[in-house]
Order: sequence, then structure tokens, then C-alpha cells
Amino acid sequence: MNDRFLRACRREPVDCTPVWFMRQAGRYMADYRELRKRYSLLEIVRQPELAVAVTLQPVDVIDVDAAILFSDLLVPFTPMGLDFEFIKGEGPSIHYPIRSASDVGRLRTFDPRESLAHVLETIRILRRELHDRVPLIGFGGAPFTLAAYAIEGGPSTTYAHTKAFMYAQPEAWHKLGAMFAALIADYMRAQIDAGAQAIQIFDSWAGALSRSDYREFALPHSRAIFDQLSDSGVPLIHFGVGATAILNDLAEAGGDVIGLDWRLPLDEAWARISDRAVQGNLDPTALLGPRERMFAAADDVLRRAGGRPGHIFNLGHGILPSTSLEQVQALAKHVHAATLAG
Ligand code: CP3
Repeated sequence: MNDRFLRACRREPVDCTPVWFMRQAGRYMADYRELRKRYSLLEIVRQPELAVAVTLQPVDVIDVDAAILFSDLLVPFTPMGLDFEFIKGEGPSIHYPIRSASDVGRLRTFDPRESLAHVLETIRILRRELHDRVPLIGFGGAPFTLAAYAIEGGPSTTYAHTKAFMYAQPEAWHKLGAMFAALIADYMRAQIDAGAQAIQIFDSWAGALSRSDYREFALPHSRAIFDQLSDSGVPLIHFGVGATAILNDLAEAGGDVIGLDWRLPLDEAWARISDRAVQGNLDPTALLGPRERMFAAADDVLRRAGGRPGHIFNLGHGILPSTSLEQVQALAKHVHAATLAG
């Protein structure tokens, strides 16, 4: 089996640098866009055969060393009683956002083995169909990012509702954070039991917080997830965007692998968390530029990783929908060739 991704997570030596891409399954692929003409995103997630097909699309055509389950961060909202939909061109829209302590009180806990059985079934089928070709990554959201969506009701640039809620109603906030932590830890455990071989926790919006707010309002709940999964036996990846200023705090919350965005050069970021593996950190827009420039930027990431064990090549955030598939294919091949030779 191709286990260079899992080996790198454990900081073991590898034959060449493993590669996977956040949002490797998605709109930049024609096959995905074709399927989306017939089914909504949530319909794909709810039908295991479709979610399996979408997960495998990039594995079949790009030289990636890991598959990532096709689902979404917000999927657990539905069984909690937080109905939502994805609106074309805008993103998620939560029908009744949380704005008060009583809104937190009306949220339901759930058993992922029942309410999200379709996701677990997707994982079981994927493991069979992958035949150990590459490992399968499962994922979930960190409490801060999930709470931010639940409170804002959709995308935000300031997180004004979320922060106002944190500051004015800290008890309700911590109740919400603890609830997300327990549910996501249980959901991740169920994904691992179903066959997920690594777990990535996305704290996509943690970068919106000051260090002291991260430590007070986000870190304890993220840490609860990592603590509860510490005996799970699979590598845990912890990823935040724009989180350079809180990198050490994010690492303190947990994770065997820390996902880095592109804002800080990889070697400088790694020096700050040298006891962990790292994942990253090419700017996703580098794939939109000329190929030679993209290769040069990838080479710079690899040079800064310096062949040390514990580097997984990835982008600093997800592949952008306007990216060409050929660029993604060329980049994966390039990383493998460059590190095999070196
Ligand atoms: O290939 C993969 O990475 C696996 C699938 C995956 C999706 N969402 C599918 C998806 C993963 C890992 C996610 C995680 C996710 N979802 C995150 C964390 C990663 C990140 O980007 O920081 C977040 C914040 C979400 C919430 C979300 N889902 C938003 C804000 C949006 C709309 C914005 C956008 O990109 O359109 C989505 C929709 C979504 N989830 C798409 C995909 C492929 C867009 C495609 C579509 O509409 O069909």
C-alpha cells in the first residue's frame, strides 16, 4: 500500500514527499460539475454511491497520496436541528441562526451512527474500493468554526455576531463549544471505526480571533476533541487559515500534524512547532499562474521543508474552482519527481 502520507504524519522517512490537496474533489473538475447539474451538494453527500464516486475522482486522475471523504463541515448541523442549504454563489445559509442562550438550549445532540449513517457507509465502501491504494482521510469542524457558522448564519468577514455572542454570553458560548466538541469527537470516532485512516479538524476561521480570544473561547473546546481522540491510533491533522499569529496556540490545542496556510514561509512556521509534522503550504492562487512559476513556488516550499521527515505537501487552503485540472496533475507529479531525485 502507498503509505507515504501516513508515514509522513508520523514523521517517519518516506520515498518521496506525499501530496494531497484540500478540496481535491470539487468544482474545478468537469466530472464533478456535470454531477452537480443533476444533484445538489447535500444530495451527493446523502447518497453513498455518489459521494464515493466524487471522492475517487481525484484519486483516479491526480497523483495524490491520500483520498479525502466527500462531505461537508456543516453536515452535522442537520441532526442538531440547524437546517441549512448551500446557495449558489453565496455559500451556506443557516435558516435560523443561533443568537441567544435559548437558541443553544434547543439544539439536539445526536448519535452519528444513526443520524449520519450514510457518511459512515460512504467511508466503508471507500475503504473497500480503494483497496489500500491510498489512505482515506475523514474530517470534521473545530468548535469555533462551526459555532461561527451557526451564529452568523452564513459567511462573514468580521464575525461580529459570533464575537458579540462570545463576549456578552460567555456561558452560552461555552455550552455551545462543549456541545460541538463532544459531538465532533464522537463523530470522528465513528468515522475512524468505519475506516477513516486519518482525521483532519478544520478550524478555517480561527484566524479571525486575537490570541487571547482564541485561548479563552476556542482552544479549550478544540483541545477537548484532540484529547478525546488521542488514543484513536490514527494521525490527527489540525488546520487553520490566517492562523499564523496563533500557530503555537493552535498546536497547543492538539494535532500530530499542523496544517499551514501560505502566509508564513514553511520553514519559519515549522521552527515554531518543531515537535510536529506539518502540511502545506503553497498559495492556492499559484496554480492559476504560469506553470513554471507554480513549479518554482512549489520548489520553494520543498526547499524550506528541506527533506526533513514529517512534511506533507498541500496548499495553504482549498483548490480554487477556477483552477485547471492539468495544473493540479502537473503539480502533484512535480512534487513527487522533485523529492524522489533529491
Ligand atoms: O475534496 C475535499 O476537500 C472534500 C470535501 C469537502 C467539502 N467541504 C465539499 C464542498 C471538505 C473537506 C469541506 C470542508 C469545508 N466545508 C470547510 C473547511 C475547509 C475550508 O474551505 O476552509 C468549510 C469552511 C466548509 C463550509 C462550506 N462548504 C462553504 C463555506 C462552502 C461554500 C463555499 C464554496 O467553496 O462554494 C461549501 C460548499 C462546498 N463543500 C463545496 C464543496 C466541493 C462547493 C462545491 C459545490 O457547491 O458543489
